[in-house]
Amino acid sequence: MDAGDALVGLLRSIEQVYRASMPGLPTPGPLTVAADRIAGIAATDLRIGTGRRKPVSRFARQAVDLGRRGPLSAIASAFAAAEPRVDWLQNPNYSVESMGPGFVERYGYVELVGPGRAAESRDLLVGLLLLGPETHYPDHVHPAEEIYHVVGGRAEWWREDEGWREKPPGAVIHHAPMVRHAMRATAEPLLALYCWTGRIEVHARMTGASAWGGNA
Ligand SMILES: [Fe+2]
Repeated sequence: MDAGDALVGLLRSIEQVYRASMPGLPTPGPLTVAADRIAGIAATDLRIGTGRRKPVSRFARQAVDLGRRGPLSAIASAFAAAEPRVDWLQNPNYSVESMGPGFVERYGYVELVGPGRAAESRDLLVGLLLLGPETHYPDHVHPAEEIYHVVGGRAEWWREDEGWREKPPGAVIHHAPMVRHAMRATAEPLLALYCWTGRIEVHARMTGASAWGGNA
């Protein structure tokens, strides 16, 4: 499959999930905006990546296999088709010095929509986060509003007003601006779709007060 067609297929599968998820969330809400924006993206608009790897990429296949058994299997399969030509990224605030080598080797994301990404946008980020097994993404905040959909992996998610909860594939997780949150993958890797709206130009930062006591 052509790389552009594979990316469009992934974007279309995300659009469908965003439209299906609208009940229960504010309307028009971030997912409405994102779905409408994604619907307008054509293959000819896309900037195709080089397939740049990160160490965490080695867990992508396992996470996709978990996702294929869940309710967001269409996204998992479309991601598998597009992944060879997408570029893996990491938050530039997260270094070996600040996060430890165990984290930076087991964390990364691909961003499909955003400034300089495959589909250009200045006010919307859409991507997929991947955590390797036994990886704790410590307590952090950001001013953007964030909605996650779990694609693959049964990880534990923490939000300051909710505590730790296991979220299975298909779960939707909402983080209002500046709400502290964290997640930890245990036996399985975690693949989760994210959508950022609002102040997307500000990266996430650690709060420095992890509810769990540091990186696993
Ligand atoms: Fe977040």
